[in-house]
Amino acid sequence: MKVYLDHNATTPIHPKVKEAMIQALDIYGNPSSSYTLGRQSHYLIEESRSKTAQFLDVESKQVIFTASGSEANNMVLKGLFTNPYEVNRKDHLIISSIEHPSVMTCAKSLRDRGIDLTLLSVDSYGRVDLEKLKTAIQPNTRLISIMLANNEIGTIQPIKEAVQIAHKQNIPFHTDAIQAIGKIPVDIKDLGVDYLTVSGHKLYGPKGVGVLYAKRPKKLLPLIEGGPHELGLRAGTENTLAIIGLGVAIDCLQQEMDENNQRVSRLRRRLEEGILKTIPNTSLNGHPDQRLPGTVNISFNDVEGKAILLKLDMKGISVSTGSACSSHLSDPSYVIQALGYSYERAYSSVRFSLGWGNTDDQIDYVLNVLAKIIEDLRKLK
Ligand SMILES: Cc1ncc(COP(=O)(O)O)c(C=O)c1O
Repeated sequence: MKVYLDHNATTPIHPKVKEAMIQALDIYGNPSSSYTLGRQSHYLIEESRSKTAQFLDVESKQVIFTASGSEANNMVLKGLFTNPYEVNRKDHLIISSIEHPSVMTCAKSLRDRGIDLTLLSVDSYGRVDLEKLKTAIQPNTRLISIMLANNEIGTIQPIKEAVQIAHKQNIPFHTDAIQAIGKIPVDIKDLGVDYLTVSGHKLYGPKGVGVLYAKRPKKLLPLIEGGPHELGLRAGTENTLAIIGLGVAIDCLQQEMDENNQRVSRLRRRLEEGILKTIPNTSLNGHPDQRLPGTVNISFNDVEGKAILLKLDMKGISVSTGSACSSHLSDPSYVIQALGYSYERAYSSVRFSLGWGNTDDQIDYVLNVLAKIIEDLRKLK
């Protein structure tokens, strides 16, 4: 049996997205060209933009397409901190200590260029402490970036409250919502964020397309300069095919998200309870309730997560031991260590992330196979 339990790394393409993209392969006109073929491509891009804007409940001119979620995150941080009209070289940036590498690495590279950086610690569930956020703010703080939901442990942050704290001091707020969009309801206006990022391949759409929502896009400088594409914020002929695919993925979210996510949540609870009850010496990483419906991260004492991953793979089951972007690194997850847990607990952690295609039979199969794998690996110790 094949069981895909790594939806936080990427999702399969929805059949409707695939169909639309195959049809769109013949639409080759350059969207910037004025003749009919070009205008046709341009129209389809703008249609996807307005679907995205409508789904996010924002204006179309606040939606910028990028080539990935990572690029969208970089655009916010570097786009703001390289804009001399907005930020001085010594200005201050706050991010949480469990951000995805696309925010973490970018922030550290800004620090190398002189920006003052605070990594806000989290509690043992992975939640930022709002009192600590208040005290971390300095007169020269120019941006706060805290992810909406963590990719490894699924913990959901109190973003609305954090934004209120930031806005009291007139500090703009970015949230990386790449894991949250499509899994939990996200209301940008209610959250109050100034920037929010999305990635196509985490929501049953194609790879190679991301979205940056910017309340005031003109505050950013482009990372890629050239033509006036994407409001002059991202030069380069648009990835028409992927943008069309993203628009269809958003249609699918609107129609299917609620029902599918309820089922995913039930299956995840079955998997989680099954593992914690039947396999001894296991512990949950992440918040018990304030968590994405399909994410469960568990440490299996005395067993290396990577070994579990490989054994499960041999049985047709795909899981991960950290973010997909750091899976080639031999160091254990910095996210689990940031919760205050030991190197060993981080080393023995496995992330199971469920999605729309998972079934009860698959969960039964995983529970059976996993118990035996852990028993065998522990005997080897
Ligand atoms: C929270 C988070 N941010 C950013 C990214 C990067 O997105 P992309 O793969 O589109 O660059 C990911 C992907 O793993 C993610 O989970």
